[in-house]
Amino acid sequence: MGKSCRVTTSGIKAMKRHGEKIVMLTAYDYPTARLVEEAGVPVILVGDTLGMVVLGYDTTLPVTMEDMLHHVKAVCRGTEKTLVVADMPFMSYQAGPEEALRNAGRFLQEGGAQAVKLEGGVVVAESVRKIVDAGIPVMGHIGLTPQSVHQFGGWKVQGKKPQGAVRVMNDALALEQAGAFSVVLELVPTALSSLISKRLRVPTIGIGAGAGCDGQVQVFHDLLGLYGDFVPKHTRQYAKIGDAIKTAIAEYADDVREGRFPTEEQSFSMDENALAELLTTDDDEDLPADRNFELPDYLSLPVLPPR
Ligand code: KIV
Repeated sequence: MGKSCRVTTSGIKAMKRHGEKIVMLTAYDYPTARLVEEAGVPVILVGDTLGMVVLGYDTTLPVTMEDMLHHVKAVCRGTEKTLVVADMPFMSYQAGPEEALRNAGRFLQEGGAQAVKLEGGVVVAESVRKIVDAGIPVMGHIGLTPQSVHQFGGWKVQGKKPQGAVRVMNDALALEQAGAFSVVLELVPTALSSLISKRLRVPTIGIGAGAGCDGQVQVFHDLLGLYGDFVPKHTRQYAKIGDAIKTAIAEYADDVREGRFPTEEQSFSMDENALAELLTTDDDEDLPADRNFELPDYLSLPVLPPR
């Protein structure tokens, strides 16, 4: 499919107007990006969950711009028609709009992404406006924003009580006003996210925010059973790929140990005359001149004393 067929942010907004649900899934590398695209998912988020599900950190906080760029580039190489959204990592935008714009720009210029995502509502609205004004589409992210996990005191549902609910609603409205093309709602009660989805013209994409959102996003490793034993409440596990991988690797290891791998099928044959010549030649001097070469000293094998 040609490059012009890539999903656009206007296309995503049109999906809301037409009542079409939006599917977004994370991906972090070339092969998974290809699989996600081939499965027909229109939006890939290269999330900073990278830090947890790929790099082995406890939170997303240690993830850097360089980590993200490395993976955004790989994902972009694996896609032709999917909209790729690059997640801005902790401290790449919190210091102010100028730095936010510079880092957002790197994701498009160096990474090849088509949009960026950042966490926060009212407090980042000015940065969102600056990035959007520079021609870079922005996806917002409110509710439980994992980069503020220590401020929230854990992974807690946001907006259950009136004051919190008003805060989440105001954050959503601030992002829309600042020009965000969509807003992720994470760990928000279903009734509140439905209300927000009705109030906003731009689509909401939920994770742990119920069925009233205009779309859903999940983490690749959660959805496919690749990430340890923990399955978040908001995930439905559609496969147990981790178990399938372990079984296949154990079978390979067994085959090597028992001499069942490799067989001729996985091996390469040699020219028979060359082999016959090697087998009958027991002295280097008998080799034709063009094959009689001396090893340099550093490659010569030491002569071991007889046992
Ligand atoms: O980093 C990420 O994967 C995300 C999603 C969970 C929305 O932000």
